[in-house]
Amino acid sequence: MLNIGLKSNIVILTGAGISQESGINTFRDQNGLWHNYKIEDVATPEAFQKNPKLVLDFYNERRKHLLAPEIKPNAAHFALARLEHTFRGLVTIITQNVDNLHERAGSENVIHIHGELLKSRCNHCQIVSSIKDNIEAESLCQHCHQKSLRPHIVWFGEEPHYIDRCHQLLDAADLFIAIGTSGMVYPAAGFIRHCPDATKVEINTEETAISHLFHKTIMGPASMKVPEFIDFLIDL
Ligand code: APR
Repeated sequence: MLNIGLKSNIVILTGAGISQESGINTFRDQNGLWHNYKIEDVATPEAFQKNPKLVLDFYNERRKHLLAPEIKPNAAHFALARLEHTFRGLVTIITQNVDNLHERAGSENVIHIHGELLKSRCNHCQIVSSIKDNIEAESLCQHCHQKSLRPHIVWFGEEPHYIDRCHQLLDAADLFIAIGTSGMVYPAAGFIRHCPDATKVEINTEETAISHLFHKTIMGPASMKVPEFIDFLIDL
């Protein structure tokens, strides 16, 4: 039995598993993105230097898929938004996902540590802009007019965003919930060690590399288990 008690500062880490039932592939499950592509071909700065078209096409394809009408937030995204808007304390979502499904479900306090598919960044002036269309090697930055746009995605070998802010939040957290993440990619996989005072709950369809570090693992699909757990929290 999990003793949750009264909480005031909830940090939720989400990974690809929360968006799986919305129709977005995870990375490491069977049929995940990393079974069909090599990380070093499409998700490193070196890959972009060597073959920009291949890398841009990979993210253009994913952006197009995210914008398809059938891709919508699921019950897990909506439950987290409900928690943020009804809970008396602070609720922060730290997501490794580059989709916008948390925002589309109504969450406002979302930190994207691995970047966002619907943004580009200019390698010349560093300005980040919202985008819906493809980025091509010939695309011009609207600000400095150089042909130096790239996806606003954190590639392997690059520094994730907002990590100091995440550590501050984790330090003050009294409940940490990790949803649909395999615990294989750092620094997010190490967040659990940065919240010493928190009750730690994991929601996943299977055990992960870091399940033993949680007080409880709730096993099952996010679309079912997240709303159940959020109802339980809101009723406390
Ligand atoms: N409900 C809950 N969990 C699920 C579901 C589901 N419907 N479907 C899959 N999962 C779980 C899997 O069991 C797995 O533990 O989601 C996890 C997905 O793991 P990964 O594919 O490794 O995704 P993630 O942890 O988000 O990857 C981290 O790796 O390649 C990088 O930058 C990429 O942000 C990504 C990072």
